[in-house]
Amino acid sequence: MNKLIEISNISKEFIIQRSPFEKPKRINALKNVTFDIEKGSVFGLIGESGSGKSTLGKIATNLMTPDEGEVCYKGQNIFYIKEKEMAKLRKDIQIVFQMALNPLDPKRKVEELLAEPLNIHLDISRYDTMKNINELLGKVGLSEEYKTKLPFQLSGGQRQRVIIARAIASKPQFLVLDEPVSALDVSMQGQIMNLLIDLRKELDLTYLFITHDLYLARKFCTHIGVMKDGVLVETGRVEDVMDNPKNDYTRQLVNSFR
Ligand SMILES: Nc1ncnc2c1ncn2[C@@H]1O[C@H](COP(=O)(O)OP(=O)(O)OP(=O)(O)O)[C@@H](O)[C@H]1O
Ligand SMILES: [Mg+2]
Repeated sequence: MNKLIEISNISKEFIIQRSPFEKPKRINALKNVTFDIEKGSVFGLIGESGSGKSTLGKIATNLMTPDEGEVCYKGQNIFYIKEKEMAKLRKDIQIVFQMALNPLDPKRKVEELLAEPLNIHLDISRYDTMKNINELLGKVGLSEEYKTKLPFQLSGGQRQRVIIARAIASKPQFLVLDEPVSALDVSMQGQIMNLLIDLRKELDLTYLFITHDLYLARKFCTHIGVMKDGVLVETGRVEDVMDNPKNDYTRQLVNSFR
């Protein structure tokens, strides 16, 4: 097995205090989570709300540091990386949140929204930037006439296509997709998921796909991990976990889906 990402013994605690008069409350968002993501796979992370899925997604992309444990990308711990290699890591690992958390600047046209990540990550000329913008639009199934549109002139599905185009602009290898289609209606969900699956093949990507939708997990994932209260209770190939769950909680979850 060619491991792209190795997540080992990750723990993360949050301390929340609603007012100075209240006792601080500890939340163990992740408890000793360990699993690997094989290159080229679609690893689905499922589990109920608050089980720690997004926290793990943020840690896997170095947007948040864990209290304990490590994340290795191609054998390298992403929390102890030299400044020089950091730029490469930022290119290679990208995250797509659900739409509400991934706002597009309402004053900027699609072409400007796409030029931004290209300019940040790739050292290319103005001409090549324009060429790349056209290519990116094609990859996410938008025609060139969308270049001059503002976000409010786009449908939800089209906006999510622009968000995906921004995420793949740096030519990444690993993408965390945190509920990427949950704000869309069912037919649009299918279209965007199919686009993501096509892009995975075309660009040789690996996905960590966070979802609470077992139907999408079953249809699009190769592997799956089940989270409950910050603990990864079961992991394996999607058909093994969903057809023959070993853990009680997984069984309950899968039965409620059938
Ligand atoms: N920045 C934060 N500060 C304090 N608590 C947090 C923070 N982020 C997450 N939490 C808490 O950690 C727990 C796990 O949250 P997380 O967002 O990872 O869950 P999730 O599985 O993604 O849920 P959902 O399916 O609703 O998106 C929750 O109890 C949440 O309230
Ligand atoms: Mg979440």
